[in-house]
Amino acid sequence: MLLHLQTWPEVETYLKRSTAIIVPIGSTEQHGPTGLIGTDAICGEAVGRKLGETTNTLVAPTIAVGMAQHHLAFPGSMTLRPSTLIAVVKDNVESLARHGFSHFYFVNGHGGNVAPFSAAFSEIYAEASLMRASNRPNVRCRLRNWYDSGRVKEISRELYAGAEGSHATPSEVSLTWAVYPEAVRRMKLEPEIAPRGSFTDAADYRRNFPDGRIGSNPNLASIEAGQRLWDAAVADLAKDLAEFVAEPA
Ligand code: NI
Repeated sequence: MLLHLQTWPEVETYLKRSTAIIVPIGSTEQHGPTGLIGTDAICGEAVGRKLGETTNTLVAPTIAVGMAQHHLAFPGSMTLRPSTLIAVVKDNVESLARHGFSHFYFVNGHGGNVAPFSAAFSEIYAEASLMRASNRPNVRCRLRNWYDSGRVKEISRELYAGAEGSHATPSEVSLTWAVYPEAVRRMKLEPEIAPRGSFTDAADYRRNFPDGRIGSNPNLASIEAGQRLWDAAVADLAKDLAEFVAEPA
């Protein structure tokens, strides 16, 4: 059930049985020489939408541009400043809260989003705390990284051990291939497993990680692995979502 494919009377009816909504979030940024620019948004969206089907929960439009300033030295990458992203999250939540949505479950595909989303949740809660006399609706927000779920971690370890890395990982590339089989691309990567390390801004990132990958060998990706990871993430998050929805707003 996708919000953008509903009518307003259908949303009104939905709100009588549930006030929860799933919001897929990702990023639009380079993912090495073979990974898609949309990898993180594709992954968040694929997991979020299947989670919505499995749990009969409404799914909001994907927030597809995230905080990815460190990728800007590679063509095609886009970013919101942290402060912009915080404002975007706040406005998204508050517009839906106005209609009665109370539980916001963000399915995330990008590590750079975690800090700004956490700050956005604090902003939202701070307004509720500071304006006690207002009739603001109560909301509860949770962010989960699809790639951090227990079963996903197990499969990544089993299949990719020391070649998973942390950017342009074979796990996330596999998932994009399961969603878009026509996106499969492999090429010789030198070195096979990319270097590891830290970064600050875009120039520093490109200096340290010349082809964009960090610690990974995405040539190990496969459509079959992507399907397994997709199912595993949805199974883990469905359980977590049920617990979340049971908590008071
Ligand atoms: Ni990614």
